Amino acid sequence: MKKVLITGASSGIGRSAALKFCASGYSVVALGRSETRLSRLIEDSKGSSGVLTAECCDLLDFNSLNGIIEKHQDMNILINNAGIYQRTDWLNPVVNEFESLFDTNVKASYQISQLAIKLWKRLDVEGLILHNASTLGNKPAPGTGLYSASKAALLSLSKSIAMEFAPSIRSIAILPGVIDTPIHQTMGEEKALEFRKNMAGFHPLGRIGSPEDISSLMLWLCSEDSQWITGSEFVVDGGISLVC
Ligand SMILES: NC(=O)c1ccc[n+]([C@@H]2O[C@H](COP(=O)([O-])OP(=O)(O)OC[C@H]3O[C@@H](n4cnc5c(N)ncnc54)[C@H](OP(=O)(O)O)[C@@H]3O)[C@@H](O)[C@H]2O)c1
Repeated sequence: MKKVLITGASSGIGRSAALKFCASGYSVVALGRSETRLSRLIEDSKGSSGVLTAECCDLLDFNSLNGIIEKHQDMNILINNAGIYQRTDWLNPVVNEFESLFDTNVKASYQISQLAIKLWKRLDVEGLILHNASTLGNKPAPGTGLYSASKAALLSLSKSIAMEFAPSIRSIAILPGVIDTPIHQTMGEEKALEFRKNMAGFHPLGRIGSPEDISSLMLWLCSEDSQWITGSEFVVDGGISLVC
């Protein structure tokens, strides 16, 4: 049974991926900070052909990450999915916004990737890392400077891993457009609702994405059909990059 470790599995895209992989017979290690949301995820995975184990941890705590990777040494796939979104204003920066965006979206992904690569090298096994970046990593929008820069860094790290550790370890980035998840709640409930409603009209395909639009691609990228792919970037955005 293939074993996949998914960060940010307590919510949104990561939660959808955890349930989809579990339903497809994978052994899933679901990471998140919220015990309540992880318990709900375990409940919802019951009856699937796979197995789901939850690990409650803050990705900013390196010792916890190390412990989890050592505990799950038979893991062959890592999905670097966890992330935070925050709008930023060049002229009115908020204290620590740079640190919080880069620590979560870049440093934590770098560190957990490093731990997985060291493990796979030590055990002499093959591995795959998927990174959940963003279309903003290639083309920032106004007010998203630091978030976009953090995702650009993640895209670059993904390519470095692909180049330096081929052929035994592969690394692939996914660039979602706007997806319907709780990540936009940092703007406030009402503004997030309005944002999602307004954004739908900008998409040639007429709607914003669902978490399943992304987790379906994740599942395919982990299948036997995608074995000759590494260092690539997959845009899944309802066509918005064509017009914005
Ligand atoms: N939604 C979009 O429009 C969109 C578009 C492009 C890219 N993305 C990317 O997709 C990924 C998933 O986002 P989402 O939309 O599914 O957001 P979400 O629903 O807010 O989920 C974010 C996940 O990340 C986890 N997380 C955040 N900081 C963490 C930390 N320090 N330690 C451990 N876990 C942490 C959260 O855990 P807890 O909830 O347990 O705290 C949660 O499970 C992110 O990398 C995001 O940047 C999203």
